[in-house]
Amino acid sequence: MRGAEAQRIKDVNVAYHDGAATDYDSKWNIQFDDHAHRMVVEKLTKALGRRPARFGRTLEIGAGTGYFTLNLLRAGSVEEAVVADISPGMLASLAASAEQLGLEVESACCEAAELPFPDQSFDVVMGHAVLHHLPDLDAAFREFGRVLRPGGQMIFAGEPSRYGDRIAHVPKRAALTIAPAWRSLVGAGPRVNGHAAEAEVKDLEPFVDVHSFTPAELDRLATGAGFESVRIAGEELTCSWFGWLNRTLEATAEPDEVPLGWSRYAYTGYMVLRALDHRLLEPYLPPAIFYNLMISARTPDETAAGAVEQQPLQSAAAR
Ligand SMILES: C[S@@+](CC[C@H](N)C(=O)[O-])C[C@H]1O[C@@H](n2cnc3c(N)ncnc32)[C@H](O)[C@@H]1O
Repeated sequence: MRGAEAQRIKDVNVAYHDGAATDYDSKWNIQFDDHAHRMVVEKLTKALGRRPARFGRTLEIGAGTGYFTLNLLRAGSVEEAVVADISPGMLASLAASAEQLGLEVESACCEAAELPFPDQSFDVVMGHAVLHHLPDLDAAFREFGRVLRPGGQMIFAGEPSRYGDRIAHVPKRAALTIAPAWRSLVGAGPRVNGHAAEAEVKDLEPFVDVHSFTPAELDRLATGAGFESVRIAGEELTCSWFGWLNRTLEATAEPDEVPLGWSRYAYTGYMVLRALDHRLLEPYLPPAIFYNLMISARTPDETAAGAVEQQPLQSAAAR
């Protein structure tokens, strides 16, 4: 996708994410603490197929409010971090959280396929839930390869799979059908204003997600851009059905009227199912059927001297 259509997608993404930035952390329950760090490391471990070591200089694409980078920085899992995002609003939220946490992070407001960095300037290029927003994926993957040093590591997680995305419509539709009964049960009124900033950009929501992926498509993008050792994994199956059902129900009610007990039940249920998916399903079923896909790959290293990582990361709890 190029030209005017690509520009339209980028413009919509800026408008939507600028509008969503203020409420983004509360909407998606994004935290910067030991638990969140463990979740991020778990995702990286699944993507890489091994526990990651401490990263050197990283670039996060579509960093949003900082879920990956700030959690890794906070736990000392990254030496030097740079974040890139097309939305100034998201970067402003990230900067505010970084300041609160006392973390140093360099940021660039830019499009993923036009990165303002010299060749070979990063050890790791990573991202979470961003590839599906990019209009020109071939150009973006070439750009990731350009800014990575030889033997550098690319890691992306949280990308919707084609199959998982289609199946997710079932719990979403079911939730909309039972929503009035659910609201009476928990004593919440129908959503009128929601989060004020979010309500303003709600109409743009259907236009920001432009892709879902098969494992073969992700593999083709990486190998087409010259990456090696491509690895694709899948995560979240039953927990995504449970999560979408509850999220869709909650989205029909005024946020302040959803009882705390319900939110606790939804979160705990999601985490239990997530652990079951991880132990019982992810090791045995093909990546394509899971809700999220993740990809890791390396840039070629002729000198074979490109060890990106030095020492295995300790979990935050073990530090
Ligand atoms: C779904 S959010 C994910 C944010 C964060 N990575 C997380 O997991 O919480 C997607 C992010 O990608 C950014 N984005 C969308 N299109 C982009 C583009 N063409 N180039 C760079 N960033 C983009 C958005 O502004 C947004 O911050």
